[in-house]
Amino acid sequence: MDDEPGTEEQGLPEMAGPVIYYNETVLEHFVCPRNVGQLDDQETDGFGLVGDPICGDQMKLWISVRDGAIARIAFRSFGCPGAIATSSMLTELADGKTIEEAKRITDDDVVEALGGIPERKRHCSLLGVRALQAAISDWERRRAAGDGRP
Ligand code: FES
Repeated sequence: MDDEPGTEEQGLPEMAGPVIYYNETVLEHFVCPRNVGQLDDQETDGFGLVGDPICGDQMKLWISVRDGAIARIAFRSFGCPGAIATSSMLTELADGKTIEEAKRITDDDVVEALGGIPERKRHCSLLGVRALQAAISDWERRRAAGDGRP
């Protein structure tokens, strides 16, 4: 098949779209993301599930709370390298923080901790931050219902 793209005879098809460069820190968090996984029901005090309307990617995030601080945090990302790296860094920033401190973490904090991400990938960092906020809201809801740990 001479005209089939990507065959050995023709080489790889030309890449379409923009080239995106990630720095070493972002790449390292993408390749070895921290706190990937999920907490079991016994450990979970708050859970957040959010989607990015721009690209359709999705994030799930679990927190375990002890004495008003995040004792464990885990995430699963169904997203791009930027989403995985920013969520990994977000969990590092949030781990051990009090709930009040964790609420104040912004996507700018995450991007700064990573040493920057490409401009067109900035929205990816919102996914983890929004998932954390959703998990904290879930924890607050459970507590208000008398069903959560302090
Ligand atoms: S492109 Fe969808 S979260 Fe990054």
